[in-house]
Amino acid sequence: MNLQELSAHVAAEFQKTYGRAPRYIAAAPGRVNVIGEHTDYNDGFVLPMAIEFYTIMAADKRPDGANIVTLRSTSQPDAAMVDLAQPITPTAPKWGNYPRGVLAGFAARNITPGGLDVLVHSTVPLGSGLSSSAALEVCTGTLIEAVTGKTIDPIEKALIAQKAEHDFANVPCGIMDQFISALGREGHLLLLDCRTRKTELVAMSDPSVSLLIINTNVKHELSGGEYAERRAQCEEAAAKLGVKSLRDCTADQLEQGKAKLSEVVYRRARHVIGEIERTTHAAEGIRSSNWPAVGNLMYASHYSLKDDYEVSCPELDVVVEIAEDIGAKAGVYGCRMTGGGFGGCCVALVKADSVEAITKKIIADYKAKTGIDATIFSSRPAAGATIIKS
Ligand code: GLA
Repeated sequence: MNLQELSAHVAAEFQKTYGRAPRYIAAAPGRVNVIGEHTDYNDGFVLPMAIEFYTIMAADKRPDGANIVTLRSTSQPDAAMVDLAQPITPTAPKWGNYPRGVLAGFAARNITPGGLDVLVHSTVPLGSGLSSSAALEVCTGTLIEAVTGKTIDPIEKALIAQKAEHDFANVPCGIMDQFISALGREGHLLLLDCRTRKTELVAMSDPSVSLLIINTNVKHELSGGEYAERRAQCEEAAAKLGVKSLRDCTADQLEQGKAKLSEVVYRRARHVIGEIERTTHAAEGIRSSNWPAVGNLMYASHYSLKDDYEVSCPELDVVVEIAEDIGAKAGVYGCRMTGGGFGGCCVALVKADSVEAITKKIIADYKAKTGIDATIFSSRPAAGATIIKS
Protein backbone atom coordinates (compact mmCIF):
# COMPACT_ATOMS: atom_id res chain seq x y z
CA MET A 1 0.00 0.00 0.00
CA ASN A 2 1.39 3.41 -0.89
CA LEU A 3 0.82 6.40 1.35
CA GLN A 4 -2.31 7.55 -0.48
CA GLU A 5 -3.90 4.10 -0.27
CA LEU A 6 -2.87 3.83 3.34
CA SER A 7 -4.50 7.14 4.24
CA ALA A 8 -7.70 6.11 2.44
CA HIS A 9 -7.64 2.94 4.54
CA VAL A 10 -7.18 4.90 7.77
CA ALA A 11 -9.93 7.36 6.78
CA ALA A 12 -12.30 4.41 6.30
CA GLU A 13 -11.26 3.03 9.72
CA PHE A 14 -11.87 6.43 11.28
CA GLN A 15 -15.35 6.46 9.74
CA LYS A 16 -16.04 3.02 11.27
CA THR A 17 -14.75 4.08 14.68
CA TYR A 18 -16.29 7.53 15.01
CA GLY A 19 -19.19 7.41 12.53
CA ARG A 20 -18.02 10.31 10.35
CA ALA A 21 -15.23 11.17 7.94
CA PRO A 22 -11.95 12.62 9.28
CA ARG A 23 -11.18 16.23 8.49
CA TYR A 24 -7.42 15.95 9.05
CA ILE A 25 -4.85 13.30 8.14
CA ALA A 26 -1.12 13.34 8.91
CA ALA A 27 1.65 10.78 8.42
CA ALA A 28 5.22 10.28 9.63
CA PRO A 29 7.62 7.50 8.57
CA GLY A 30 9.81 5.11 10.51
CA ARG A 31 13.50 4.93 9.65
CA VAL A 32 16.43 2.67 9.12
CA ASN A 33 19.90 3.84 10.04
CA VAL A 34 22.45 2.80 7.42
CA ILE A 35 25.41 3.61 9.68
CA GLY A 36 26.29 5.84 12.66
CA GLU A 37 24.94 3.93 15.66
CA HIS A 38 25.02 5.31 19.18
CA THR A 39 26.77 8.40 17.86
CA ASP A 40 23.88 10.88 17.97
CA TYR A 41 24.06 11.54 21.73
CA ASN A 42 27.83 11.94 21.37
CA ASP A 43 27.46 14.93 19.00
CA GLY A 44 28.53 12.68 16.11
CA PHE A 45 27.22 11.83 12.63
CA VAL A 46 24.38 9.51 11.64
CA LEU A 47 23.24 8.38 8.20
CA PRO A 48 19.59 7.28 8.33
CA MET A 49 16.79 7.24 5.78
CA ALA A 50 13.04 7.38 6.22
CA ILE A 51 11.28 4.18 5.11
CA GLU A 52 7.97 3.56 3.37
CA PHE A 53 6.35 2.46 6.63
CA TYR A 54 4.26 5.06 8.41
CA THR A 55 2.27 6.08 11.40
CA ILE A 56 -0.90 7.75 10.18
CA MET A 57 -3.38 9.77 12.21
CA ALA A 58 -6.87 10.64 11.02
CA ALA A 59 -8.75 13.17 13.13
CA ASP A 60 -11.72 15.46 13.46
CA LYS A 61 -12.84 18.11 15.94
CA ARG A 62 -15.02 16.66 18.67
CA PRO A 63 -18.71 17.11 18.06
CA ASP A 64 -19.31 17.94 21.76
CA GLY A 65 -16.71 20.73 21.79
CA ALA A 66 -14.96 19.33 24.91
CA ASN A 67 -11.28 20.24 25.23
CA ILE A 68 -10.21 16.60 25.26
CA VAL A 69 -8.15 14.67 22.73
CA THR A 70 -9.23 11.03 22.43
CA LEU A 71 -6.72 8.78 20.67
CA ARG A 72 -7.75 5.32 19.57
CA SER A 73 -5.35 2.94 17.89
CA THR A 74 -5.99 0.12 15.44
CA SER A 75 -3.42 -1.98 17.33
CA GLN A 76 -3.98 -1.11 20.99
CA PRO A 77 -6.95 -2.12 23.12
CA ASP A 78 -7.08 1.00 25.28
CA ALA A 79 -7.84 4.53 24.15
CA ALA A 80 -5.69 7.41 25.44
CA MET A 81 -7.47 10.54 26.68
CA VAL A 82 -5.71 13.87 27.02
CA ASP A 83 -7.54 16.63 28.87
CA LEU A 84 -6.09 19.81 27.41
CA ALA A 85 -7.49 21.92 30.27
CA GLN A 86 -5.20 20.12 32.75
CA PRO A 87 -1.39 19.98 32.91
CA ILE A 88 -0.35 17.10 30.63
CA THR A 89 1.66 14.41 32.42
CA PRO A 90 2.50 10.76 31.69
CA THR A 91 -0.20 8.22 32.51
CA ALA A 92 -1.72 4.93 31.30
CA PRO A 93 -2.03 3.57 28.67
CA LYS A 94 1.69 3.57 27.96
CA TRP A 95 1.40 4.04 24.19
CA GLY A 96 -0.53 7.26 24.74
CA ASN A 97 2.46 8.88 26.41
CA TYR A 98 4.18 9.55 23.08
CA PRO A 99 1.33 11.70 21.74
CA ARG A 100 0.74 13.15 25.23
CA GLY A 101 4.34 14.33 25.39
CA VAL A 102 4.09 16.00 22.00
CA LEU A 103 0.77 17.67 22.88
CA ALA A 104 2.51 18.96 26.03
CA GLY A 105 5.46 20.26 23.99
CA PHE A 106 3.20 22.15 21.59
CA ALA A 107 1.07 23.43 24.49
CA ALA A 108 4.25 24.86 26.04
CA ARG A 109 4.59 26.88 22.82
CA ASN A 110 0.94 27.93 23.08
CA ILE A 111 -0.12 25.71 20.21
CA THR A 112 -3.10 23.53 21.09
CA PRO A 113 -5.38 21.74 18.64
CA GLY A 114 -8.49 21.85 20.87
CA GLY A 115 -10.67 18.78 21.44
CA LEU A 116 -10.15 16.03 18.86
CA ASP A 117 -11.14 12.49 18.01
CA VAL A 118 -8.09 10.71 16.61
CA LEU A 119 -7.49 7.30 15.08
CA VAL A 120 -3.89 6.05 14.96
CA HIS A 121 -2.70 3.36 12.59
CA SER A 122 0.88 2.25 12.00
CA THR A 123 2.67 0.04 9.50
CA VAL A 124 6.03 0.53 11.27
CA PRO A 125 6.74 -2.77 13.06
CA LEU A 126 6.68 -2.04 16.80
CA GLY A 127 9.79 -2.54 18.92
CA SER A 128 11.96 -3.60 16.00
CA GLY A 129 14.41 -0.72 15.94
CA LEU A 130 12.65 1.08 13.08
CA SER A 131 11.54 4.00 15.25
CA SER A 132 7.85 3.32 15.61
CA SER A 133 7.84 5.64 18.62
CA ALA A 134 9.50 8.53 16.76
CA ALA A 135 6.96 8.07 13.94
CA LEU A 136 4.13 8.27 16.48
CA GLU A 137 5.60 11.42 18.05
CA VAL A 138 6.36 13.21 14.81
CA CYS A 139 2.96 12.23 13.40
CA THR A 140 1.29 13.80 16.43
CA GLY A 141 3.20 17.02 15.87
CA THR A 142 2.28 17.03 12.20
CA LEU A 143 -1.38 16.43 13.03
CA ILE A 144 -1.33 19.38 15.44
CA GLU A 145 0.10 21.48 12.61
CA ALA A 146 -2.67 20.28 10.27
CA VAL A 147 -5.41 21.13 12.78
CA THR A 148 -4.06 24.50 13.93
CA GLY A 149 -2.72 25.64 10.55
CA LYS A 150 0.51 26.61 12.34
CA THR A 151 3.54 24.85 10.97
CA ILE A 152 6.77 25.02 12.93
CA ASP A 153 10.36 24.47 11.84
CA PRO A 154 10.71 20.69 11.36
CA ILE A 155 13.87 20.75 13.50
CA GLU A 156 11.83 22.24 16.34
CA LYS A 157 9.15 19.61 15.77
CA ALA A 158 11.82 16.89 16.02
CA LEU A 159 13.13 18.42 19.26
CA ILE A 160 9.62 18.49 20.79
CA ALA A 161 9.24 14.82 19.81
CA GLN A 162 12.62 13.94 21.36
CA LYS A 163 11.65 15.70 24.59
CA ALA A 164 8.41 13.70 24.65
CA GLU A 165 10.48 10.51 24.49
CA HIS A 166 12.75 11.75 27.32
CA ASP A 167 10.06 13.07 29.64
CA PHE A 168 7.07 10.87 28.87
CA ALA A 169 8.64 7.53 27.87
CA ASN A 170 11.76 7.76 30.00
CA VAL A 171 14.17 6.99 27.17
CA PRO A 172 17.13 9.42 27.01
CA CYS A 173 17.38 9.03 23.22
CA GLY A 174 19.41 11.14 20.82
CA ILE A 175 17.96 13.20 17.99
CA MET A 176 18.36 10.84 15.02
CA ASP A 177 14.97 9.10 14.90
CA GLN A 178 12.75 12.13 15.32
CA PHE A 179 14.95 14.14 13.00
CA ILE A 180 14.80 11.73 10.06
CA SER A 181 11.06 11.13 10.56
CA ALA A 182 10.49 14.88 10.33
CA LEU A 183 13.08 15.73 7.65
CA GLY A 184 13.50 12.65 5.44
CA ARG A 185 13.77 13.20 1.68
CA GLU A 186 12.62 10.84 -1.02
CA GLY A 187 15.54 9.08 -2.69
CA HIS A 188 18.07 10.30 -0.11
CA LEU A 189 19.87 9.37 3.03
CA LEU A 190 20.45 12.19 5.47
CA LEU A 191 23.96 12.76 6.78
CA LEU A 192 23.17 14.56 10.01
CA ASP A 193 25.73 16.30 12.14
CA CYS A 194 24.10 15.87 15.53
CA ARG A 195 26.19 18.68 17.01
CA THR A 196 25.33 21.48 14.59
CA ARG A 197 22.11 19.78 13.33
CA LYS A 198 23.25 20.55 9.80
CA THR A 199 22.14 17.99 7.25
CA GLU A 200 23.52 16.90 3.93
CA LEU A 201 21.45 14.89 1.49
CA VAL A 202 23.18 11.80 0.15
CA ALA A 203 21.45 10.44 -2.95
CA MET A 204 20.75 6.73 -2.83
CA SER A 205 19.65 6.28 -6.41
CA ASP A 206 22.03 3.73 -7.96
CA PRO A 207 19.58 1.11 -9.32
CA SER A 208 22.21 -1.64 -9.00
CA VAL A 209 21.95 -1.75 -5.19
CA SER A 210 19.20 -2.17 -2.59
CA LEU A 211 18.99 -1.92 1.15
CA LEU A 212 17.36 -4.91 2.79
CA ILE A 213 15.85 -4.63 6.24
CA ILE A 214 15.97 -7.95 8.05
CA ASN A 215 13.78 -8.19 11.12
CA THR A 216 15.05 -10.83 13.56
CA ASN A 217 11.60 -10.70 15.17
CA VAL A 218 13.27 -10.58 18.54
CA LYS A 219 12.10 -7.50 20.42
CA HIS A 220 14.20 -5.10 22.40
CA GLU A 221 13.25 -2.89 25.32
CA LEU A 222 15.21 0.36 25.08
CA SER A 223 14.18 1.58 28.50
CA GLY A 224 15.70 -1.59 29.96
CA GLY A 225 18.44 0.64 31.33
CA GLU A 226 21.15 -0.47 28.88
CA TYR A 227 20.65 2.54 26.67
CA ALA A 228 20.91 5.00 29.56
CA GLU A 229 23.90 3.10 30.88
CA ARG A 230 25.74 3.39 27.52
CA ARG A 231 24.97 7.06 27.40
CA ALA A 232 26.35 7.58 30.92
CA GLN A 233 29.51 5.62 30.04
CA CYS A 234 30.11 7.90 27.05
CA GLU A 235 29.70 10.96 29.23
CA GLU A 236 32.11 9.50 31.75
CA ALA A 237 34.67 8.86 29.00
CA ALA A 238 34.35 12.40 27.66
CA ALA A 239 34.71 13.92 31.15
CA LYS A 240 37.79 11.84 31.99
CA LEU A 241 39.39 12.58 28.62
CA GLY A 242 38.74 16.28 29.17
CA VAL A 243 36.53 16.84 26.10
CA LYS A 244 33.01 18.18 25.77
CA SER A 245 31.80 15.05 24.01
CA LEU A 246 33.39 12.04 22.30
CA ARG A 247 33.00 13.89 18.99
CA ASP A 248 35.95 16.00 20.14
CA CYS A 249 38.25 13.06 20.76
CA THR A 250 40.42 11.36 18.13
CA ALA A 251 41.46 7.71 18.18
CA ASP A 252 45.00 8.81 19.10
CA GLN A 253 43.79 10.93 22.00
CA LEU A 254 41.76 8.00 23.25
CA GLU A 255 44.87 5.78 23.23
CA GLN A 256 46.85 8.45 25.08
CA GLY A 257 44.12 8.75 27.72
CA LYS A 258 43.43 5.02 27.99
CA ALA A 259 44.83 4.76 31.52
CA LYS A 260 42.19 7.20 32.79
CA LEU A 261 39.35 4.91 31.75
CA SER A 262 38.05 1.58 32.93
CA GLU A 263 38.37 -1.18 30.35
CA VAL A 264 34.62 -1.11 29.60
CA VAL A 265 34.39 2.66 29.29
CA TYR A 266 37.44 2.62 27.02
CA ARG A 267 35.72 0.15 24.68
CA ARG A 268 32.51 2.20 24.64
CA ALA A 269 34.50 5.27 23.63
CA ARG A 270 36.44 3.30 21.02
CA HIS A 271 33.17 2.30 19.38
CA VAL A 272 31.82 5.84 19.28
CA ILE A 273 35.01 7.44 17.97
CA GLY A 274 35.43 4.76 15.28
CA GLU A 275 31.76 4.87 14.32
CA ILE A 276 31.73 8.63 13.80
CA GLU A 277 34.63 8.24 11.37
CA ARG A 278 33.02 5.27 9.61
CA THR A 279 29.84 7.27 9.07
CA THR A 280 31.43 10.12 7.14
CA HIS A 281 33.48 7.62 5.15
CA ALA A 282 30.35 5.64 4.31
CA ALA A 283 28.66 8.83 3.06
CA GLU A 284 31.65 9.39 0.75
CA GLY A 285 31.45 5.77 -0.42
CA ILE A 286 27.76 6.11 -1.24
CA ARG A 287 28.34 9.35 -3.15
CA SER A 288 30.91 7.58 -5.31
CA SER A 289 28.98 4.27 -5.51
CA ASN A 290 31.92 2.46 -3.91
CA TRP A 291 29.67 -0.31 -2.61
CA PRO A 292 32.37 -2.74 -1.43
CA ALA A 293 33.86 0.03 0.74
CA VAL A 294 30.46 0.94 2.19
CA GLY A 295 29.74 -2.73 2.87
CA ASN A 296 33.01 -3.20 4.76
CA LEU A 297 32.26 -0.16 6.90
CA MET A 298 28.88 -1.71 7.75
CA TYR A 299 30.51 -4.96 8.87
CA ALA A 300 33.06 -3.01 10.92
CA SER A 301 30.23 -1.07 12.52
CA HIS A 302 28.46 -4.29 13.47
CA TYR A 303 31.49 -5.87 15.10
CA SER A 304 32.23 -2.70 16.99
CA LEU A 305 28.64 -2.60 18.29
CA LYS A 306 28.86 -6.27 19.19
CA ASP A 307 32.28 -6.38 20.86
CA ASP A 308 32.99 -2.86 22.10
CA TYR A 309 29.55 -1.39 22.65
CA GLU A 310 27.85 -4.70 23.52
CA VAL A 311 24.41 -3.85 22.22
CA SER A 312 23.98 -6.70 19.74
CA CYS A 313 22.36 -10.07 20.49
CA PRO A 314 22.82 -13.63 19.17
CA GLU A 315 20.02 -13.30 16.58
CA LEU A 316 21.46 -10.11 15.08
CA ASP A 317 24.90 -11.74 14.99
CA VAL A 318 23.49 -14.78 13.21
CA VAL A 319 22.02 -12.56 10.47
CA VAL A 320 25.37 -10.82 9.96
CA GLU A 321 27.21 -14.16 9.85
CA ILE A 322 24.78 -15.46 7.22
CA ALA A 323 25.29 -12.29 5.19
CA GLU A 324 29.07 -12.70 5.38
CA ASP A 325 28.76 -16.33 4.30
CA ILE A 326 26.75 -15.32 1.26
CA GLY A 327 29.48 -12.80 0.49
CA ALA A 328 30.01 -10.09 -2.09
CA LYS A 329 30.23 -12.48 -5.04
CA ALA A 330 26.68 -13.65 -4.42
CA GLY A 331 25.52 -10.06 -3.88
CA VAL A 332 25.90 -9.03 -0.22
CA TYR A 333 28.25 -6.05 0.24
CA GLY A 334 27.68 -5.52 3.93
CA CYS A 335 25.33 -6.00 6.85
CA ARG A 336 24.95 -4.69 10.37
CA MET A 337 22.50 -4.35 13.22
CA THR A 338 20.57 -1.09 13.05
CA GLY A 339 18.93 1.03 15.75
CA GLY A 340 19.45 0.84 19.48
CA GLY A 341 20.20 -2.90 19.50
CA PHE A 342 19.25 -5.91 21.68
CA GLY A 343 17.09 -7.32 18.89
CA GLY A 344 15.18 -5.67 16.10
CA CYS A 345 16.59 -5.35 12.62
CA CYS A 346 19.72 -5.65 10.54
CA VAL A 347 20.29 -3.60 7.42
CA ALA A 348 22.13 -5.13 4.46
CA LEU A 349 23.52 -3.52 1.34
CA VAL A 350 22.97 -5.91 -1.55
CA LYS A 351 23.04 -6.11 -5.34
CA ALA A 352 19.56 -5.34 -6.60
CA ASP A 353 19.45 -8.28 -8.98
CA SER A 354 20.26 -10.74 -6.17
CA VAL A 355 17.57 -9.58 -3.74
CA GLU A 356 15.31 -12.57 -4.24
CA ALA A 357 18.00 -15.23 -3.83
CA ILE A 358 19.55 -13.43 -0.83
CA THR A 359 16.18 -13.05 0.87
CA LYS A 360 15.41 -16.76 0.50
CA LYS A 361 18.83 -17.78 1.76
CA ILE A 362 18.76 -15.53 4.83
CA ILE A 363 15.24 -16.67 5.78
CA ALA A 364 16.17 -20.37 5.43
CA ASP A 365 19.51 -20.14 7.25
CA TYR A 366 18.16 -17.91 10.03
CA LYS A 367 15.29 -20.33 10.64
CA ALA A 368 17.72 -23.28 10.69
CA LYS A 369 20.03 -21.56 13.18
CA THR A 370 17.51 -19.89 15.51
CA GLY A 371 14.15 -21.56 14.89
CA ILE A 372 12.70 -18.10 14.27
CA ASP A 373 11.10 -16.72 11.10
CA ALA A 374 12.79 -13.53 9.95
CA THR A 375 10.84 -10.89 8.02
CA ILE A 376 12.70 -9.21 5.18
CA PHE A 377 11.71 -6.19 3.14
CA SER A 378 13.30 -3.41 1.20
CA SER A 379 12.35 0.23 1.11
CA ARG A 380 13.36 3.16 -0.99
CA PRO A 381 14.30 6.27 0.98
CA ALA A 382 11.00 7.99 1.73
CA ALA A 383 9.95 11.56 2.43
CA GLY A 384 9.55 12.77 6.01
CA ALA A 385 6.32 13.68 7.79
CA THR A 386 3.51 15.18 5.73
CA ILE A 387 0.06 16.64 6.16
CA ILE A 388 -2.19 14.61 3.87
CA LYS A 389 -5.46 16.42 4.60
CA SER A 390 -6.11 19.68 6.42
C1 GLA B 1 17.77 4.67 19.39
C2 GLA B 1 17.72 6.14 19.78
C3 GLA B 1 18.54 6.99 18.82
C4 GLA B 1 19.95 6.44 18.66
C5 GLA B 1 19.92 4.94 18.37
C6 GLA B 1 21.29 4.33 18.35
O1 GLA B 1 17.14 4.48 18.15
O2 GLA B 1 16.39 6.59 19.77
O3 GLA B 1 18.56 8.32 19.27
O4 GLA B 1 20.74 6.73 19.79
O5 GLA B 1 19.13 4.24 19.32
O6 GLA B 1 22.03 4.82 17.30
